[in-house]
Amino acid sequence: MTTDAIGYIRVRNGVTLRASPARERAFNIVTDQAQMHKSPEGSAESYREQLHSNVNEEMQSLEIAAQSLVDFPDESWHIRMCLARQCWDEARHAWLFFNRLVELGGYKGEFPVINQEWGVVCMFDSLAARLAVQNRVFEGGSLDVFKEAAVLWAQMGDHKTADIMEAVLVDEIRHSQFANEWLENLRNDSPRDLLKAIAAMSSLRSWARDLTPPGTVMEHDIPVNEEDRQRAGF
Ligand SMILES: [Fe+2]
Ligand SMILES: [Fe+2]
Repeated sequence: MTTDAIGYIRVRNGVTLRASPARERAFNIVTDQAQMHKSPEGSAESYREQLHSNVNEEMQSLEIAAQSLVDFPDESWHIRMCLARQCWDEARHAWLFFNRLVELGGYKGEFPVINQEWGVVCMFDSLAARLAVQNRVFEGGSLDVFKEAAVLWAQMGDHKTADIMEAVLVDEIRHSQFANEWLENLRNDSPRDLLKAIAAMSSLRSWARDLTPPGTVMEHDIPVNEEDRQRAGF
């Protein structure tokens, strides 16, 4: 099914996003960050909540890459192969996080889920825009998040979860890297598409403002993972 056949939802501040992808009935899908669960910081529940959200984020990454394969059949074999490999990686990531969640006593649907990344990325009708927002901004950001998560899980003595974070991080470097390389080539190959990617980044900034509930405070600044960002071509 191409993106054209997927509906829209109106969310906070009248922002229009793509409707959520299908989820099993066990999941409670919300459309506003304010409806997400907030476990007490440092509790066992908060660690399960983190893994539960990792599962759903990986599912969205898989769905976004797969949707691009459907929507852009005429793109080069190279970039389509990169996206196909990414689908395999993201499916494995979701599975790794889900198994660990279950080992720690969690279960599918234990917390609400939000599919905002899918909703935002699938609003764009060019592969350049989707790769800029999903692979460059979101997955690039995940390089910082997973690095910090690996350190924190290890500090808590949970080396098994820390190792999963490290393993996922290695794949995410590649996902940002192939997108950065492809976007860089657009300078010569298709400047028009590069402009679409730049416009998407600026739409993203205004969406991020509108979608963030008032009073949201960042718990802390996540350290920039310089080393892996360099590997990913930032
Ligand atoms: Fe992933
Ligand atoms: Fe990824």
